[in-house]
Amino acid sequence: AATRTFSIIKPDATRRNLTGAVTKMLEDAGLRVVASKRIRMTEDQAKKFYEVHAERPFYGELVDFMTSGPVVVQVLEGEDAVKRNRDVMGATNPADAEEGTIRKAFAESIEANSVHGSDSDENAATEIAFFFSDDEIVG
Ligand code: CMP
Repeated sequence: AATRTFSIIKPDATRRNLTGAVTKMLEDAGLRVVASKRIRMTEDQAKKFYEVHAERPFYGELVDFMTSGPVVVQVLEGEDAVKRNRDVMGATNPADAEEGTIRKAFAESIEANSVHGSDSDENAATEIAFFFSDDEIVG
């Protein structure tokens, strides 16, 4: 059945004008953009969104990076959306990402890795609700 996941096009990608190129790869992978907005994340939002990483050594830098420029937050819909999106994103570290993935094509580093995608259906629901109200999602 069609399910939903949450995606972020990160500041390294918006800075290089890759919003369309990234979205095209998502669409070509069978995902449909059912909600999308370009925002500047506040420090509070970034800290809260990445709270699970609060104890990691890269947390502070990650928050700085995610607030360093515009991001595009999206809700994606498709068959097995979480896995489909993770497959097309590729590995977190672009050095490990396979050919044909977004991170292989565009990521600059393990931090500036162009996209975020939810890692489970449960987290997808939480992350979608963090940025979108129901009426902003049009399936
Ligand atoms: P994301 O999928 O958004 O989830 C957490 C983010 O932290 C990850 O993508 C990277 O942008 C960043 N990240 C993960 N691991 C590291 C690391 N070892 N060093 C720096 N940043 C990291």
